[in-house]
Amino acid sequence: MALLEILEFPDPRLRTTAKPVKNVDGKIADLADQMQEAMYAAPGIGLAATQVNVHLELIVVDVSEDKDSPIVLINPSIISTEGEFESSEGCLSVPGFFEPVNRAEIISVEAINRAGDPFTMEASGLLAVCIQHEMDHLKGKLFVDYLSSTKRQMIRKKLLKQQKQRLSLIHISEPTRPRLI
Ligand code: NI
Repeated sequence: MALLEILEFPDPRLRTTAKPVKNVDGKIADLADQMQEAMYAAPGIGLAATQVNVHLELIVVDVSEDKDSPIVLINPSIISTEGEFESSEGCLSVPGFFEPVNRAEIISVEAINRAGDPFTMEASGLLAVCIQHEMDHLKGKLFVDYLSSTKRQMIRKKLLKQQKQRLSLIHISEPTRPRLI
């Protein structure tokens, strides 16, 4: 199956608020698997359903070295936070840009897993950052929203230019259509 396409800033669909998943069924498990595949292929350490244009509260993360510890969080909610942690963040929807963002250092999260069972987990450091970043996506929020508007506009402009160039390349590579005269 083809990889899921990841939306890029400033695509307005990234601003959609996700809805809670009502039933964790086979379709949701499939979506989680496909998102995992797209995340590893990118490669990235987290992906929210919003980024693949599915507006349901589902995120996948894996901050392990060997990419063998994926965590699926459905309807995640943060129940407590502790401390502050600044790190350089990037995003698969904002390719090529990394900027410092402040987050909570330790979080407790409640969610439902891929099998439909509720669980609670504690995360710190990179994993905590990653979960908070992905949960922001579900609210239509991007890490660039934490930056100054000047910086955000600069990133927006550069990405729009890249997206335009990519489109024109696709156009050029299309076979020439026969002309009707
Ligand atoms: Ni992201």
